[in-house]
Amino acid sequence: MFFSILWKHTRLAIYELEKVVWAQNLNLFNKNVCFFEIERKYEEKLKKLAWQIKIWLVYSKSEFLKEEFLIKLFKNKKLVGSNDKELLLYLKTRWFVRRFKVLQDIKKSDIEVKNKWVEIIRFSENLYGIVEWWQPIQVYEKIDFEKPVRSMKIWMMPAKLTHYLINISTILEKNKVIYDPFCWLGTTLFVANWLGYDVFGSDINASPAKQNFKWWQKVSFYNANKKVYIFKQDITKLDISKKKFLHSVTNVVSEWFLWPVINRFLNLKEAQKLEDEVWQIYFKAVDNLLRLPNLENIVFTFPIYFLKSGMEYKFDKIYGAIQKLGVRIEILPEIYKRQWQKVWRQIVKIFK
Ligand SMILES: C[S@@+](CC[C@H](N)C(=O)[O-])C[C@H]1O[C@@H](n2cnc3c(N)ncnc32)[C@H](O)[C@@H]1O
Repeated sequence: MFFSILWKHTRLAIYELEKVVWAQNLNLFNKNVCFFEIERKYEEKLKKLAWQIKIWLVYSKSEFLKEEFLIKLFKNKKLVGSNDKELLLYLKTRWFVRRFKVLQDIKKSDIEVKNKWVEIIRFSENLYGIVEWWQPIQVYEKIDFEKPVRSMKIWMMPAKLTHYLINISTILEKNKVIYDPFCWLGTTLFVANWLGYDVFGSDINASPAKQNFKWWQKVSFYNANKKVYIFKQDITKLDISKKKFLHSVTNVVSEWFLWPVINRFLNLKEAQKLEDEVWQIYFKAVDNLLRLPNLENIVFTFPIYFLKSGMEYKFDKIYGAIQKLGVRIEILPEIYKRQWQKVWRQIVKIFK
């Protein structure tokens, strides 16, 4: 049995476990911890998940306290980190564990813990987890905070969210080709490259992504064996017959946030006006992208405005229009929101 410490937006985290690694027998131990089983062939994929904080196997007390097991566990690593002081004291006296520390927050492990410690989590009297995988925070931080062309605007796309969208789209299968038609700063392109995918990016203004790509090529997470190609394109005018190189695209992943930044609550009229201004761009974009001959799905985020009246305003006009194209739309089970934001994101998957 495996465990995962779920990232906030737990329903999206569970969705990822179910739909990307086909987790079975899912069982919520508490609101942040989920137990599950998966087939062996998907185990490697666990290490590429986006919305989990730490993962690996759960052991019963009898399995865990077996001598051979502990010897193996501490063979290369002498230290131990855990949320259970009693257990640590026990291990210290018996297994010559020289140092230990008690993690204050189950969700946080610093670099030292990841590199040098065996991290044990006691879930109950009889159940222990040993962490073998932590979320790749270093990649996210690099992309979010170090790319040279950046925006501190509230709607900047976090790399962790982009990673999630890519996983939902590709279900981490190999040999997919990703295209972000609103690539802006290039976040999706860099995360996709790091995950090992060929990737295309376009934008009406492609220069921020191009500049950032020069930087990305020098970053240690850059995968030089994969193709990254960035070009200028107004997506509403895309003519697939003239862009043959896009014919290999299997997955479109994007944050289609074309709205101005809003720092106050809108009223209904203002939200409707925003929708009227942009819905046709979205519609044309989807219509054009669906002509890609090898496309499997499109995953993107849609805004939800939290109005002055307390109401949530979704851009239903766009959903309605897209549905008329004869495609199936799946709306993910939870809204991505930040307390201080006036605009939230809904994640949507369109199947071709
Ligand atoms: C918020 S950004 C997208 C965020 C980006 N996907 C990321 O991961 O950071 C929206 C982008 O859409 C671009 N854009 C707006 N209208 C467009 C159009 N008709 N065709 C292509 N790009 C467009 C803008 O230039 C802007 O870079």
